[in-house]
Amino acid sequence: MKNIQFSGHDTVALAEQYGTPLYVMSEDIIRDRIESVKKAFEEAGADYEINFAGKAFTNIAMCKIVDSEGIALDAVSKGEIMTAQAAGFPMDRICYHGSNKKASELKYALENGVGLIVVDSEDELKKLIQVTDELDQDVNIMFRVSPGVEAHTHELIQTGTQDTKFGLPYSLAKDIIVSANAQPHISVVGIHCHIGSQIVDEVPFIAAADKMISLYQDIRNDGVDLRAINLGGGFGIPYLEGDEYFETLKYIPKLVAHVRTICADRDVPMPKLIVEPGRFLVCEAGATLYTIGTVKEIPGVRKYVSVDGGMNDNPRPALYGAEYEAVVCNGKESEKMEPYRVSGRACETDTLIDSAMLNQPQVGDILMVKNTGAYNYSMASRYNRYPIPAVVLLSGDRSAVMVERESYEDLLSHDRVPDWLK
Ligand SMILES: Cc1ncc(COP(=O)(O)O)c(C=O)c1O
Repeated sequence: MKNIQFSGHDTVALAEQYGTPLYVMSEDIIRDRIESVKKAFEEAGADYEINFAGKAFTNIAMCKIVDSEGIALDAVSKGEIMTAQAAGFPMDRICYHGSNKKASELKYALENGVGLIVVDSEDELKKLIQVTDELDQDVNIMFRVSPGVEAHTHELIQTGTQDTKFGLPYSLAKDIIVSANAQPHISVVGIHCHIGSQIVDEVPFIAAADKMISLYQDIRNDGVDLRAINLGGGFGIPYLEGDEYFETLKYIPKLVAHVRTICADRDVPMPKLIVEPGRFLVCEAGATLYTIGTVKEIPGVRKYVSVDGGMNDNPRPALYGAEYEAVVCNGKESEKMEPYRVSGRACETDTLIDSAMLNQPQVGDILMVKNTGAYNYSMASRYNRYPIPAVVLLSGDRSAVMVERESYEDLLSHDRVPDWLK
């Protein structure tokens, strides 16, 4: 049998060339996903914008891909903004998100021409007013509002309920937004919500859209020229074969038609519709390659394989019980699939997969965990002082490093020894 291929590449050869653990990302799949979302909006005849949620996977080369696709970037921190700047990403296509932004970060965004700021709270608005006064600079903003909608996803990735740290409470939003717009340097151009991540059901999305349209209408009736509604991301993907997932490309025309009908009924202008997918655009474009270091059987209990990564490069199973599938990449003479628990090597019980059906894993084999393109590299840590793995970009038959593997020198470079310990 042949070795397992990913995006047209031999995974064992990739592991040999670049080392493990290794994140691999398919540029072809990312571009295909972006194009499919564009097409869905265009066919629906909507005025739209796609913001790639950079938190899912950001680095300089990724910003170049996003830029060349002509879509916008949702950046949530000065670090993400600076990454986009390093890529030459047009600052007016950045939507600066994030909760609890500091005045210094808002100032950085304004001084560097960031096009739009999504304000998360009244206190953040106060800081922004101070900064715009100080710089004597105008700014376009949106407000993040929590629509009070419960999305059926893991509690830790629900963000649009009433009881949440994110955004303005729905009941207070109108008054805060109308008075913000009266500030000399502030123009409120839209409202935003994001109800959660990995959502597989359209009911909460439509419920949130309905609440946002009502708010949009109320605010417009009070004289604020709102033009856009950003409905966030959160479109769920199938992590496991047979998993329920969100039919994003079917949902987009439905959403557009729904909003069009409501706006016509209420005689309000159709807003520009903005979506902010992260996971949908990059998750299935990514995989992680590991080397199997141990295989053991506890008689009468189970079989384990341990790999040379774990919760450091993929904290999602530990954070919220996320499930993944894996495959032994090395071609075998025969097939004998058996269940194995896939464990990482952190000093925790960092189970990556509780029970993966694997074909005769052996020490030294390469194991590929699938669908790791979102919230893996971007959430990686140095726990136990393991350096962060490299990311390799696959494009057609080409491959190249897009993020260098951290070296042990990198790891030690921030350590300082206080005088009294020298
Ligand atoms: C404000 C906002 N927009 C978009 C996203 C992207 O979500 P997803 O990757 O599930 O599409 C997130 C994720 O947390 C978010 O917080």
